[in-house]
Amino acid sequence: MLVISIAALAEERIIGSSKGKIPWKLPRDKAHFRACTAGRWLLVGRKTYDEMTGWFEDRTPIVLTSDREFRTNVSGHRVAHSLAEAIDLARGAGVSELMVCGGAHTYATALPMTDRLILTRIALKVDDENAPRFPEFETSGEWQLISAEEWPAEDGGPAARLEMYDRIRGSDKMI
Ligand SMILES: NC(=O)c1ccc[n+]([C@@H]2O[C@H](COP(=O)([O-])OP(=O)(O)OC[C@H]3O[C@@H](n4cnc5c(N)ncnc54)[C@H](OP(=O)(O)O)[C@@H]3O)[C@@H](O)[C@H]2O)c1
Repeated sequence: MLVISIAALAEERIIGSSKGKIPWKLPRDKAHFRACTAGRWLLVGRKTYDEMTGWFEDRTPIVLTSDREFRTNVSGHRVAHSLAEAIDLARGAGVSELMVCGGAHTYATALPMTDRLILTRIALKVDDENAPRFPEFETSGEWQLISAEEWPAEDGGPAARLEMYDRIRGSDKMI
């Protein structure tokens, strides 16, 4: 199973706000996220799933939760209680790639098993000490930058850089 995390990060790895809504508007990133996830199986934390309600058309989210009572009322949406269970669900459906779509706890849960990072690095400082963050990861050594694309600022929004990293891994991956 290829595990791919896709995220948008402001400076200091901030991915959201302690007050709720994502603190930037970047239509190009939204379009990129939609294109990358269309038709895919996605792993989403229960909080992000609640936040993105109604957004998952043409995608198969697996909601990660520790709550054994949790049910989604949307046909085709799945629930898993661990990363291993989510991977088993996807594999059982013949899927070979799982895209991790956040939020912070879910990225952190999946990071040890993540093979690829697709990161939009946004040139924006967010003044929010308690904001959720992407987990720390080492860009030298463990991860190799495969591609990078500069996105100049548009319509008063921040500039960004789209980066893709692959993990340099031996034969240690078990799933
Ligand atoms: N910038 C981006 O690319 C991006 C993308 C997505 C989300 N976000 C932001 O991220 C923030 C939400 O992040 P978050 O960390 O608070 O929430 P989250 O990761 O979306 O959801 C957290 C919940 O997921 C479940 N969970 C996570 N790890 C688990 C594990 N190992 N086993 C079982 N269940 C697990 C738990 O659900 P239960 O409580 O039900 O047990 C946990 O409370 C929001 O601000 C959102 O806007 C940003």
